[in-house]
Amino acid sequence: MKIKKVGVVGCGFMGGGIVQVCATAGYDVVTTDITDEAVTQGINVIKERLAKKVAKKQMTQQEMDVALGRIKGSSDINVYKDCDLVIECVFEDMELKRKLFADLDKICEPKTYFGTNTSCLPVVDMAMATSRPEKVVGIHFFTPPPLMPCVEIMQSIVTSKETMDMAVEFGKSVDKTVIVAKDTPGFIVNAQMIPNVLNAVRMFENGIASAEDIDMGAVKGLSHPIGPIALADFFGLDVLYAISTHMYEETKDPMVKPPLILKRMVKAGMLGRKSGKGFYDYTK
Ligand SMILES: NC(=O)c1ccc[n+]([C@@H]2O[C@H](COP(=O)([O-])OP(=O)(O)OC[C@H]3O[C@@H](n4cnc5c(N)ncnc54)[C@H](O)[C@@H]3O)[C@@H](O)[C@H]2O)c1
Repeated sequence: MKIKKVGVVGCGFMGGGIVQVCATAGYDVVTTDITDEAVTQGINVIKERLAKKVAKKQMTQQEMDVALGRIKGSSDINVYKDCDLVIECVFEDMELKRKLFADLDKICEPKTYFGTNTSCLPVVDMAMATSRPEKVVGIHFFTPPPLMPCVEIMQSIVTSKETMDMAVEFGKSVDKTVIVAKDTPGFIVNAQMIPNVLNAVRMFENGIASAEDIDMGAVKGLSHPIGPIALADFFGLDVLYAISTHMYEETKDPMVKPPLILKRMVKAGMLGRKSGKGFYDYTK
Protein backbone atom coordinates (compact mmCIF):
# COMPACT_ATOMS: atom_id res chain seq x y z
CA MET A 1 0.00 0.00 0.00
CA LYS A 2 1.28 3.47 -0.83
CA ILE A 3 1.57 5.70 2.23
CA LYS A 4 -0.10 9.08 1.65
CA LYS A 5 -1.27 10.30 5.04
CA VAL A 6 0.96 10.05 8.12
CA GLY A 7 -0.02 10.65 11.76
CA VAL A 8 2.54 11.70 14.38
CA VAL A 9 1.40 11.36 18.01
CA GLY A 10 3.20 13.84 20.29
CA CYS A 11 4.48 17.05 18.66
CA GLY A 12 7.43 17.51 21.03
CA PHE A 13 11.16 17.51 20.38
CA MET A 14 11.23 14.41 18.13
CA GLY A 15 7.60 14.39 16.97
CA GLY A 16 7.80 17.97 15.70
CA GLY A 17 10.92 17.08 13.74
CA ILE A 18 9.26 14.01 12.23
CA VAL A 19 6.18 16.07 11.25
CA GLN A 20 8.52 18.49 9.46
CA VAL A 21 10.41 15.69 7.70
CA CYS A 22 7.17 14.08 6.48
CA ALA A 23 5.54 17.35 5.35
CA THR A 24 8.61 18.51 3.41
CA ALA A 25 8.78 15.06 1.77
CA GLY A 26 5.22 15.55 0.46
CA TYR A 27 3.07 13.61 2.93
CA ASP A 28 -0.17 14.92 4.40
CA VAL A 29 0.48 14.93 8.15
CA VAL A 30 -1.81 15.07 11.16
CA THR A 31 -0.34 15.49 14.62
CA THR A 32 -1.73 15.65 18.12
CA ASP A 33 -0.46 16.49 21.56
CA ILE A 34 -2.03 16.51 25.00
CA THR A 35 -3.56 19.98 24.57
CA ASP A 36 -4.30 22.33 21.66
CA GLU A 37 -1.68 24.71 23.09
CA ALA A 38 1.00 22.02 23.04
CA VAL A 39 0.32 21.09 19.43
CA THR A 40 0.22 24.76 18.37
CA GLN A 41 3.55 25.28 20.10
CA GLY A 42 4.99 22.23 18.32
CA ILE A 43 3.83 23.52 14.92
CA ASN A 44 5.19 27.01 15.69
CA VAL A 45 8.62 25.48 16.27
CA ILE A 46 8.37 23.83 12.83
CA LYS A 47 7.39 27.21 11.29
CA GLU A 48 10.43 28.87 12.89
CA ARG A 49 12.77 26.15 11.62
CA LEU A 50 11.40 26.37 8.08
CA ALA A 51 11.55 30.19 8.14
CA LYS A 52 15.26 29.90 8.99
CA LYS A 53 15.73 27.61 5.99
CA VAL A 54 14.00 30.19 3.78
CA ALA A 55 16.21 32.96 5.20
CA LYS A 56 19.27 30.83 4.40
CA LYS A 57 17.87 30.19 0.89
CA GLN A 58 17.74 26.44 1.55
CA MET A 59 14.06 26.45 0.53
CA THR A 60 11.68 28.97 -1.06
CA GLN A 61 8.83 30.73 0.72
CA GLN A 62 6.41 28.87 -1.56
CA GLU A 63 7.93 25.48 -0.60
CA MET A 64 7.60 26.43 3.06
CA ASP A 65 3.94 27.44 2.62
CA VAL A 66 3.14 24.21 0.76
CA ALA A 67 4.85 22.10 3.48
CA LEU A 68 3.03 23.93 6.27
CA GLY A 69 -0.26 23.56 4.38
CA ARG A 70 0.13 19.78 4.57
CA ILE A 71 0.25 19.81 8.41
CA LYS A 72 -2.94 19.64 10.53
CA GLY A 73 -2.69 19.88 14.32
CA SER A 74 -5.30 18.75 16.85
CA SER A 75 -5.72 17.43 20.36
CA ASP A 76 -8.31 14.90 19.16
CA ILE A 77 -6.91 11.39 18.66
CA ASN A 78 -9.74 10.60 16.17
CA VAL A 79 -7.83 12.54 13.48
CA TYR A 80 -5.72 9.39 12.97
CA LYS A 81 -8.71 7.33 11.76
CA ASP A 82 -7.85 7.28 8.03
CA CYS A 83 -4.05 7.55 8.28
CA ASP A 84 -1.97 5.02 6.38
CA LEU A 85 0.79 5.15 8.99
CA VAL A 86 0.77 6.53 12.56
CA ILE A 87 4.12 7.05 14.33
CA GLU A 88 4.06 7.54 18.10
CA CYS A 89 6.53 10.02 19.64
CA VAL A 90 5.17 10.33 23.18
CA PHE A 91 7.24 10.03 26.35
CA GLU A 92 9.47 6.96 26.72
CA ASP A 93 6.97 5.18 28.98
CA MET A 94 5.80 1.67 28.06
CA GLU A 95 2.42 1.90 29.82
CA LEU A 96 1.64 5.19 28.04
CA LYS A 97 2.71 3.79 24.67
CA ARG A 98 0.72 0.55 25.13
CA LYS A 99 -2.42 2.48 26.11
CA LEU A 100 -1.97 4.78 23.14
CA PHE A 101 -1.61 1.88 20.70
CA ALA A 102 -4.65 0.13 22.18
CA ASP A 103 -6.67 3.34 21.66
CA LEU A 104 -5.32 3.87 18.13
CA ASP A 105 -6.14 0.25 17.31
CA LYS A 106 -9.82 0.93 18.04
CA ILE A 107 -9.88 4.25 16.15
CA CYS A 108 -7.81 3.50 13.03
CA GLU A 109 -8.96 1.64 9.93
CA PRO A 110 -7.59 -1.89 9.45
CA LYS A 111 -5.20 -0.62 6.75
CA THR A 112 -3.25 1.59 9.20
CA TYR A 113 0.32 0.67 10.12
CA PHE A 114 1.73 1.73 13.48
CA GLY A 115 5.30 2.90 14.05
CA THR A 116 7.10 3.67 17.29
CA ASN A 117 9.97 6.12 17.65
CA THR A 118 11.06 4.45 20.90
CA SER A 119 14.75 4.74 21.77
CA CYS A 120 14.99 1.32 23.38
CA LEU A 121 11.66 -0.16 24.54
CA PRO A 122 10.66 -3.54 23.05
CA VAL A 123 8.50 -3.05 19.95
CA VAL A 124 6.76 -6.38 20.60
CA ASP A 125 5.29 -5.10 23.91
CA MET A 126 3.58 -2.27 22.04
CA ALA A 127 2.54 -4.53 19.15
CA MET A 128 0.78 -6.91 21.55
CA ALA A 129 -1.40 -4.05 22.85
CA THR A 130 -3.08 -4.03 19.44
CA SER A 131 -5.14 -6.49 17.40
CA ARG A 132 -2.70 -6.02 14.47
CA PRO A 133 0.74 -6.86 15.92
CA GLU A 134 2.10 -7.74 12.48
CA LYS A 135 1.50 -4.12 11.40
CA VAL A 136 3.56 -2.57 14.24
CA VAL A 137 7.19 -1.63 13.54
CA GLY A 138 9.98 0.48 15.04
CA ILE A 139 10.69 3.67 13.04
CA HIS A 140 13.45 5.38 14.98
CA PHE A 141 14.60 8.83 13.86
CA PHE A 142 17.68 10.51 15.29
CA THR A 143 18.13 13.89 16.93
CA PRO A 144 17.23 16.26 15.31
CA PRO A 145 15.13 14.42 12.68
CA PRO A 146 15.31 17.12 9.96
CA LEU A 147 19.13 17.07 10.03
CA MET A 148 20.12 13.51 10.88
CA PRO A 149 20.35 11.45 7.68
CA CYS A 150 19.49 8.03 9.09
CA VAL A 151 16.41 6.13 10.25
CA GLU A 152 16.50 2.80 12.05
CA ILE A 153 13.70 0.31 11.30
CA MET A 154 13.14 -2.33 14.01
CA GLN A 155 11.43 -5.63 13.32
CA SER A 156 9.72 -7.23 16.30
CA ILE A 157 9.32 -10.97 16.40
CA VAL A 158 5.77 -10.51 15.05
CA THR A 159 6.29 -7.70 12.49
CA SER A 160 5.39 -8.95 9.01
CA LYS A 161 7.65 -8.70 5.98
CA GLU A 162 5.01 -6.52 4.30
CA THR A 163 5.19 -4.06 7.21
CA MET A 164 9.01 -4.07 7.07
CA ASP A 165 8.92 -3.37 3.33
CA MET A 166 6.50 -0.48 3.93
CA ALA A 167 8.72 1.00 6.69
CA VAL A 168 11.93 0.70 4.65
CA GLU A 169 10.23 2.38 1.66
CA PHE A 170 8.83 5.09 3.94
CA GLY A 171 12.30 5.77 5.41
CA LYS A 172 13.79 6.11 1.92
CA SER A 173 10.90 8.36 0.82
CA VAL A 174 11.76 10.90 3.53
CA ASP A 175 15.32 10.95 2.19
CA LYS A 176 16.97 8.96 4.99
CA THR A 177 19.51 6.17 4.91
CA VAL A 178 17.66 3.14 6.27
CA ILE A 179 19.24 0.63 8.64
CA VAL A 180 17.35 -2.45 9.83
CA ALA A 181 17.59 -3.99 13.29
CA LYS A 182 16.02 -6.75 15.34
CA ASP A 183 13.95 -5.79 18.40
CA THR A 184 16.88 -5.89 20.86
CA PRO A 185 17.90 -3.45 23.67
CA GLY A 186 19.17 -0.22 22.08
CA PHE A 187 18.78 -1.69 18.56
CA ILE A 188 21.83 -0.72 16.42
CA VAL A 189 22.65 2.88 17.26
CA ASN A 190 21.86 3.22 20.96
CA ALA A 191 23.50 -0.16 21.63
CA GLN A 192 26.73 1.48 20.42
CA MET A 193 26.20 5.01 21.66
CA ILE A 194 24.77 4.53 25.19
CA PRO A 195 27.77 2.55 26.64
CA ASN A 196 30.09 5.19 25.14
CA VAL A 197 28.19 8.13 26.66
CA LEU A 198 27.81 6.37 30.04
CA ASN A 199 31.53 5.63 30.06
CA ALA A 200 32.21 9.36 29.65
CA VAL A 201 29.73 10.17 32.46
CA ARG A 202 31.57 7.66 34.72
CA MET A 203 34.92 9.30 33.85
CA PHE A 204 33.45 12.63 34.95
CA GLU A 205 31.89 11.06 38.08
CA ASN A 206 35.23 9.49 39.05
CA GLY A 207 37.06 12.81 38.65
CA ILE A 208 39.27 11.51 35.84
CA ALA A 209 38.75 14.66 33.76
CA SER A 210 36.51 17.70 33.39
CA ALA A 211 33.45 17.57 31.13
CA GLU A 212 35.23 19.98 28.77
CA ASP A 213 38.33 17.78 28.48
CA ILE A 214 36.34 14.55 28.05
CA ASP A 215 34.43 16.22 25.21
CA MET A 216 37.57 17.76 23.72
CA GLY A 217 39.20 14.33 23.70
CA ALA A 218 36.34 12.93 21.63
CA VAL A 219 36.14 15.94 19.28
CA LYS A 220 39.86 16.58 18.70
CA GLY A 221 41.21 13.11 19.44
CA LEU A 222 38.56 11.01 17.73
CA SER A 223 37.09 13.52 15.24
CA HIS A 224 33.58 13.11 16.70
CA PRO A 225 31.32 16.07 15.80
CA ILE A 226 30.26 16.49 19.45
CA GLY A 227 31.65 15.17 22.74
CA PRO A 228 29.71 12.51 24.71
CA ILE A 229 28.97 14.77 27.70
CA ALA A 230 27.62 17.57 25.50
CA LEU A 231 25.65 14.95 23.57
CA ALA A 232 24.06 13.68 26.80
CA ASP A 233 23.03 17.24 27.69
CA PHE A 234 21.67 17.70 24.16
CA PHE A 235 19.31 14.74 24.07
CA GLY A 236 18.36 15.03 27.72
CA LEU A 237 19.66 13.35 30.88
CA ASP A 238 16.17 12.02 31.66
CA VAL A 239 16.14 10.31 28.26
CA LEU A 240 19.65 8.92 28.84
CA TYR A 241 18.63 7.69 32.29
CA ALA A 242 15.44 6.05 30.97
CA ILE A 243 17.27 4.33 28.11
CA SER A 244 20.16 3.07 30.24
CA THR A 245 17.85 1.88 33.02
CA HIS A 246 15.82 -0.11 30.52
CA MET A 247 18.88 -1.54 28.75
CA TYR A 248 20.42 -2.54 32.09
CA GLU A 249 17.18 -4.20 33.25
CA GLU A 250 17.11 -6.29 30.07
CA THR A 251 20.81 -7.14 29.71
CA LYS A 252 22.42 -6.72 33.18
CA ASP A 253 25.45 -5.50 31.23
CA PRO A 254 27.52 -3.23 33.56
CA MET A 255 28.44 -1.07 30.55
CA VAL A 256 24.84 0.24 30.43
CA LYS A 257 24.26 0.54 34.19
CA PRO A 258 23.17 4.16 34.82
CA PRO A 259 25.81 5.96 36.93
CA LEU A 260 24.60 7.30 40.29
CA ILE A 261 25.41 10.89 39.33
CA LEU A 262 23.00 10.62 36.39
CA LYS A 263 20.18 9.45 38.66
CA ARG A 264 20.87 12.28 41.13
CA MET A 265 20.97 14.92 38.37
CA VAL A 266 17.65 13.75 36.93
CA LYS A 267 16.06 13.81 40.41
CA ALA A 268 17.36 17.40 40.80
CA GLY A 269 15.77 18.46 37.50
CA MET A 270 19.18 18.87 35.84
CA LEU A 271 18.11 17.48 32.46
CA GLY A 272 20.65 19.17 30.17
CA ARG A 273 19.90 21.83 27.58
CA LYS A 274 16.11 21.60 27.94
CA SER A 275 16.20 22.52 31.65
CA GLY A 276 19.07 25.02 31.31
CA LYS A 277 21.48 22.94 33.38
CA GLY A 278 23.09 19.54 33.01
CA PHE A 279 26.78 18.77 32.92
CA TYR A 280 27.11 22.27 31.44
CA ASP A 281 25.29 25.47 32.37
CA TYR A 282 23.08 26.86 29.57
CA THR A 283 21.53 29.71 31.54
CA LYS A 284 24.23 32.23 30.69
N1 LIG B 1 15.17 13.02 22.66
C1 LIG B 1 15.88 12.27 21.82
O1 LIG B 1 17.05 12.54 21.53
C2 LIG B 1 15.22 11.07 21.17
C3 LIG B 1 15.84 10.47 20.06
C4 LIG B 1 15.22 9.39 19.43
C5 LIG B 1 14.03 8.90 19.94
N2 LIG B 1 13.47 9.50 21.03
C6 LIG B 1 12.20 8.94 21.51
O2 LIG B 1 11.14 9.75 20.99
C7 LIG B 1 10.03 9.75 21.91
C8 LIG B 1 9.68 11.17 22.27
O3 LIG B 1 10.80 11.79 22.86
P1 LIG B 1 10.99 13.39 22.84
O4 LIG B 1 12.41 13.64 23.18
O5 LIG B 1 10.40 13.96 21.59
O6 LIG B 1 10.06 13.79 24.08
P2 LIG B 1 9.26 15.16 24.33
O7 LIG B 1 8.98 15.18 25.79
O8 LIG B 1 9.98 16.33 23.71
O9 LIG B 1 7.90 14.96 23.49
C9 LIG B 1 6.89 14.07 23.86
C10 LIG B 1 5.59 14.73 23.51
O10 LIG B 1 4.54 13.79 23.62
C11 LIG B 1 3.40 14.46 24.16
N3 LIG B 1 2.49 13.47 24.69
C12 LIG B 1 2.60 12.73 25.81
N4 LIG B 1 1.55 11.90 25.93
C13 LIG B 1 0.75 12.11 24.85
C14 LIG B 1 -0.47 11.56 24.40
N5 LIG B 1 -1.12 10.62 25.10
N6 LIG B 1 -0.99 12.02 23.24
C15 LIG B 1 -0.36 12.98 22.53
N7 LIG B 1 0.82 13.54 22.90
C16 LIG B 1 1.35 13.11 24.06
C17 LIG B 1 3.99 15.41 25.17
O11 LIG B 1 3.12 16.45 25.54
C18 LIG B 1 5.23 15.91 24.43
O12 LIG B 1 4.96 17.06 23.64
C19 LIG B 1 10.48 8.90 23.11
O13 LIG B 1 10.03 7.58 22.92
C20 LIG B 1 12.01 8.97 23.02
O14 LIG B 1 12.66 7.87 23.62
C21 LIG B 1 14.01 10.57 21.65
